[in-house]
Amino acid sequence: MVHDGSGEGIFMIVSVLNQKGGVGKTTLSVNLAATLALAGRRTLLIDADPQASALDWQASRDGESLFPVVGMARATLHKDVPGLAAQQEHVIIDGPPRVNELARSAIMASHLVVIPVQPSPYDIWAASDIVKLVVEAQVYNTGLRGVFVINRVVAKTAISRDVAEALKDYPFPLLQTAIAQRVVFAESAAAGLSVLEYAPRSPAAGEMRTLLREIEGLMACVTR
Ligand SMILES: Nc1ncnc2c1ncn2[C@@H]1O[C@H](COP(=O)(O)OP(=O)(O)OP(=O)(O)O)[C@@H](O)[C@H]1O
Ligand SMILES: [Mg+2]
Repeated sequence: MVHDGSGEGIFMIVSVLNQKGGVGKTTLSVNLAATLALAGRRTLLIDADPQASALDWQASRDGESLFPVVGMARATLHKDVPGLAAQQEHVIIDGPPRVNELARSAIMASHLVVIPVQPSPYDIWAASDIVKLVVEAQVYNTGLRGVFVINRVVAKTAISRDVAEALKDYPFPLLQTAIAQRVVFAESAAAGLSVLEYAPRSPAAGEMRTLLREIEGLMACVTR
């Protein structure tokens, strides 16, 4: 079931991007979209990855989806999104593991680019290409913001001084909410479910709700 929105008028287009594969773009996209939908927001998930993982995720579920998922791995995304978003309160874009025209188009379509990184300085340095692309786009899309989110944290200590040091060279902040390494993310995905449906009381579900609150707080200025 797609929930009706509460009509507060906050509207945001968030893309989840990093050219590095396997950092959690699809996991965070799907779970963010589900968190929004379960909070009563009309949400669309756009799968902008030619691998079509988000569409696969939706296809593997038994029941109706909480939100629609459309495949749009096209470099015209920024032109297509306004039409697609007309009936939505929020749009989440699951990006490709490439720095290409598709990623550029997703960035141009967005208010916010969330860059998931694993808690290692190497992973953070590897994000430099996508950061550069966002910075370039900010020249034209002046409201555009970029943030890092650390995914797959094994222990709290994993967000070390090294990670903070590696992030220091980038113009984007790190979200306070970090997502831990939890098997429930993979288990729920296998069933085509979000962690909020699969294990609503799990720490993973709690982290997703906290992540959404932090993002909404950041974007509160974006209204239609
Ligand atoms: N916080 C987490 N805890 C446990 N497993 C995770 C977590 N985040 C992602 N994973 C797992 O890591 C793998 C890669 O995640 P995901 O597919 O979301 O990455 P991606 O960035 O979309 O990859 P690609 O670049 O191929 O699109 C998946 O098997 C997923 O279940
Ligand atoms: Mg993916």
